[in-house]
Amino acid sequence: MRTQVAIIGAGPAGLALALLLRREGIESVLVERAAQDHVRSRLRAGVLEQGSVALLRDLGLGAGIERRGLEQHAIDFRFGGRSHRLDFHAASGGRSAWVYPQHEVVADLMQACERQDIAVMYESPVTRIEAFDGTRPVVHFHREGRDHTLVCDAVAGCDGYRGISRRSMEPGRQQVFAHDYAFGWLGILAEAPAPTQEITWGCHEEGFAMLSIRTPQVTRLYLQCAPDEDPALWSDDRIWDALHRRLDVPDMPAIREGRITHKSVTAMRSFQCAPMQQGRLFLAGDAAHIVPPTGAKGLNAALADVQVLARALHAFCGNGDPARLRSYSDTCLRRMWQVHRFSAGLCNMVHRVADESAFAHQLRLVDLHTMTDTEAGRQHFSHQFTGLPIEA
Ligand code: APR
Repeated sequence: MRTQVAIIGAGPAGLALALLLRREGIESVLVERAAQDHVRSRLRAGVLEQGSVALLRDLGLGAGIERRGLEQHAIDFRFGGRSHRLDFHAASGGRSAWVYPQHEVVADLMQACERQDIAVMYESPVTRIEAFDGTRPVVHFHREGRDHTLVCDAVAGCDGYRGISRRSMEPGRQQVFAHDYAFGWLGILAEAPAPTQEITWGCHEEGFAMLSIRTPQVTRLYLQCAPDEDPALWSDDRIWDALHRRLDVPDMPAIREGRITHKSVTAMRSFQCAPMQQGRLFLAGDAAHIVPPTGAKGLNAALADVQVLARALHAFCGNGDPARLRSYSDTCLRRMWQVHRFSAGLCNMVHRVADESAFAHQLRLVDLHTMTDTEAGRQHFSHQFTGLPIEA
């Protein structure tokens, strides 16, 4: 088989890239290890930046967001026994964020690929990527009991943190930056209407908690826990007690309880590899970086990368200009390090580590007040939360 761009992985990064390339008249083939239903139903992040929504609308995929998305203008931070509402819409000159779950984004992108006859090969694990230091990389994959090869001009490694693309790069030419956090999140889905339509963060002495909305009848809630916590230790009663303590404040509606339908623990990590390219192999999304979920940046960062990559591939395949492709990693990293700074900073500000000193605790409270109660703090948060610009 032969194509211009081989895309490994049909998560949000790979699917969006295929659609962006098609719009520029560039042919691509997507090769995905998992079954289509598995990819479509993975439960993940749920907040879209303004720029991600603009991208999806631009791809003709605005209908789902209009129908089922919830436009957000503020976050209700609760600490010190009261609410500190941060109106990021006002502080950013009118920018918004949307609650719209990742599996909906993936379903919309998949449908668009089907409509446009973009080739997606599911249940086809890539086993080897060769010759990407030359001009004709070869992707080897397994499909329906046989080995196949895909020859291309460039390979987009959109295969997530555990994918094969990053591991195929020469380690001596790559630097890795990583940080593991001393806490994780116990995430639950509850059949209970949210008491408010705004995302609520509880920065409590006992630990962090968060309330988000999945649908009008279903809430997504998180509780800080140990990174390796056993979810079985959390009975439903224990979960609701902790959520009430960490999120409820006087004069605001209390969180509502309901049947818990899902419980899982996520550890938190920041990770970046640099450069994000070697020869004609380019990494995008989770394949290149991981952020803790606090700032809701994982999906948005993946969509930012593929916009930079699509423009660079267009200049290269369409006009024979390799300059943007050569600077792909530098362009992404300039933005990405700011995303890391924001995600890690926010993560450390809202969680309480078990051995936090009284002094460190006071400093963290000052940071929270600065973010919510000063003009400069609100502006900084709002600018980052609604999404930094993407360089051309
Ligand atoms: N061959 C083919 N496909 C592979 C291989 C392989 N060897 N290894 C992994 N994949 C596929 C995975 O099955 C997965 O569907 O690559 C895809 C990667 O998708 P994601 O992990 O969703 O990564 P990405 O598209 O970068 O999305 C960014 O945003 O909210 C965050 O982590 C969250 O998934 C999210 C991410």
